[in-house]
Amino acid sequence: MNVHESEKLAGILKNRGYAPAENSQQADIIVFNTCCIRDTAEQKILGNIGAVKKQKKLNPELIIAVVGCMSQQKGAKELLQQKFPYIDIVLGSSNLHELSSAIDKILLKRHFFSNVDDNERPEIIENTPVYRTSGTNAWVNIMYGCNNYCSYCVVPYVRGRERSRQPEAVLDEIKTLIDGGYKEITLLGQNVDSYCALSDNGWNFARLLENIAKIDAKFRLRFMSSHPKDFNKDIVDIIRTAPNICNNIHLPVQSGSDRILKIMNRKYTAEHYLSLISYIKTLPDVGITTDMMVGFPTETDEDFELSLSLLKEVRFSNAYTFVYSPRKGTVAADMPQLSADIKKQRITRLVALQNAISAEISQEYQGKNFEILVEDKNAKYDGVLCGRTESGRLVNFQGDAGLIGQFVNVEIKKTKAASLWGEIYVGK
Ligand code: 5AD
Ligand code: SF4
Repeated sequence: MNVHESEKLAGILKNRGYAPAENSQQADIIVFNTCCIRDTAEQKILGNIGAVKKQKKLNPELIIAVVGCMSQQKGAKELLQQKFPYIDIVLGSSNLHELSSAIDKILLKRHFFSNVDDNERPEIIENTPVYRTSGTNAWVNIMYGCNNYCSYCVVPYVRGRERSRQPEAVLDEIKTLIDGGYKEITLLGQNVDSYCALSDNGWNFARLLENIAKIDAKFRLRFMSSHPKDFNKDIVDIIRTAPNICNNIHLPVQSGSDRILKIMNRKYTAEHYLSLISYIKTLPDVGITTDMMVGFPTETDEDFELSLSLLKEVRFSNAYTFVYSPRKGTVAADMPQLSADIKKQRITRLVALQNAISAEISQEYQGKNFEILVEDKNAKYDGVLCGRTESGRLVNFQGDAGLIGQFVNVEIKKTKAASLWGEIYVGK
């Protein structure tokens, strides 16, 4: 979501005639796209904003903008202005499209310009220009905001209520992207499974998938993120029948303990989650990934062991693992917190277990053939390309850069924990 929003900010700048600078020292404008989901993200961005103070002093013409959900937090714009008085523009994620008019204001008369839209249900803005940076893949928002109020999460407070884009707008954007040569579309939303759930237009996520899959072209469709309370078998059945929807599902579980899931306000049990996983596993060669958190308030050793057991039972191909980070204004932030030490011990064990599982799953790919969408050159090795299997696993193989954006068949010859190495083959 953040990457795609940065693409929109870059699109607005490009439309004004800006081009990417070689490095930040040479920039005429620096836009920080912020995130406040965890404290680490927030501290990092504060450090980065602090680091441009000297540059701004040497070049007062430099425009500095801070955009994104961190600026959307209560009191954040005042805090930013106080801490970094050299910031020119502060915008929220819901009104990032105002970047161009904000620049006009700054150029006209240098003064602090702040417009953080704190409307609970900001309007959906269509046709923001996008400077796409992710090669053969194009990100497409299908919805914004979130209504779920998981007790640890700041998103509903900073991104407002859930709102879905019109299906026609989504379908038109995807058709244009595919006509323009994109080979992979990734749908984005905080909870894609509740697409159009709040409107009475007769659409839902399964129907959207079905209609995108009907587009007559060779492309891959992925989506993120799903929520286990709304994800359902219809979605799996559509994936089964539509060859262009990838057998790849990201289904965040957060914890394996029902007691913790309840306090997290996740509205499902581990048993329900596992029943969804069993059904997903009826898809051939499916890649399943998750988000898992440790150190949530009151999490006991027993709760944590349940998370480890769930990880072992599902055997995710990858898990994004997080240490719980208290977020101001959320329900969990006011609960008794665990010590940093316990959190550290638990995340270390969780990561070690998942790494072992990921390595085992990698080995299952050995000797098999897969269709790969060639994404890019390998950043480290000359003459090596990389791309993904339908299940989402990254594969490296020798090949000519002219193959980027094409589908090739690759036989897996060697496996490493996080990556697979193979050779292109021709024929069946
Ligand atoms: N602390 C740690 N991780 C969090 N996430 C969301 N909020 C927090 C928080 N306060 C994680 C969840 C979510 C992912 C995007 O970020 O696992 O699925
Ligand atoms: Fe946050 Fe929960 Fe909404 Fe995901 S579903 S964005 S974790 S509140």
